[in-house]
Amino acid sequence: MITRGFDLGGLTAFLQYARQFGRPVNEISSQYNSLQAALAGAERIFAVIDTAPESETIDPLPMPAPIQGQVTLSHVNFGYVPEKQVLFDIDIDVKPGQKIAFVGETGAGKSTIINLLPRFYPLLSGDILLDKTSIFKLDRNELRKKLSIVFQDTHLFTDTVMENIRYGRLTATDDEVIAAAKLAAADSFIMQLPQGYKTELTNDGANLSQGQRQLINIARATVANTPILILDEATSSIDTRTEIAIQEGIDRLMQDKTSFVIAHRLSTIRNADVICLIEKGRIAEFGSHVELLKPKGKYYRLYMGQFD
Ligand SMILES: Nc1ncnc2c1ncn2[C@@H]1O[C@H](COP(=O)(O)OP(=O)(O)OP(=O)(O)O)[C@@H](O)[C@H]1O
Ligand SMILES: [Mg+2]
Repeated sequence: MITRGFDLGGLTAFLQYARQFGRPVNEISSQYNSLQAALAGAERIFAVIDTAPESETIDPLPMPAPIQGQVTLSHVNFGYVPEKQVLFDIDIDVKPGQKIAFVGETGAGKSTIINLLPRFYPLLSGDILLDKTSIFKLDRNELRKKLSIVFQDTHLFTDTVMENIRYGRLTATDDEVIAAAKLAAADSFIMQLPQGYKTELTNDGANLSQGQRQLINIARATVANTPILILDEATSSIDTRTEIAIQEGIDRLMQDKTSFVIAHRLSTIRNADVICLIEKGRIAEFGSHVELLKPKGKYYRLYMGQFD
């Protein structure tokens, strides 16, 4: 071969062999990548399996009945992990039927405050009271039946629109579901879906827009009809015109309910009884819209910044 030099046949054979050798090497590296992804997935699955179940409340106190809806956060200190405290001395008393709004920068701790109400996490110190009873002494499931929450990121099940809304209250009739959807201004877009309320939603509602998913979640909270309502950026992905339409529905929904609202668009919370400006986990300013504008402080600047 060496003495003969490299003829065309030899070159072809060489390239052929080189390619045959290269292919499995490439395949090994791509298999390795999927193996890595599978391992990362397995790790998460095991983390979920290993999660300790929420501890039962021993000898829970009876739920105050009927619920008035007074919610008191008393000197609440909280951190998701002990090394990093997120909330500092949050002290708020929300009277029955009041609407309280939280505003503030991204990461200030607004969602964290409302995540404490359904008792998702233990506090570092302080207490949260519902009608003067500590929520940590109530039965967790009973407590959660009194709250409906529209979270910042929405989740839908692979089932029909009807069942997804009914999830708010499993005993609701079809008519109640439709009435709730109408109140939440979701009815008109649902009727335009291929099979209306019987349309199957797949993949966390991937066949809907973000705003439509939020509308379904608001309808879900409407059908639940609980004394306490929590909305975290519930209308952030909804266009301004639809927002005005559902704002009316939400306002009706909030009547006689204690409600907690987080909104970046301040126009939607102007009418709240109390507005709480959160800054780095602390209450920086507190009062009604008019009261907060007067001193021309942080709320004033935030508000004017949005309406320049
Ligand atoms: N599950 C979590 N585990 C650990 N830290 C968290 C968790 N969720 C939020 N945090 C931290 O808590 C702080 C407050 O977050 P939070 O979600 O309450 O902010 P936010 O005011 O709701 O912000 P945004 O306006 O962006 O929704 C942030 O510093 C965040 O990194
Ligand atoms: Mg948030």
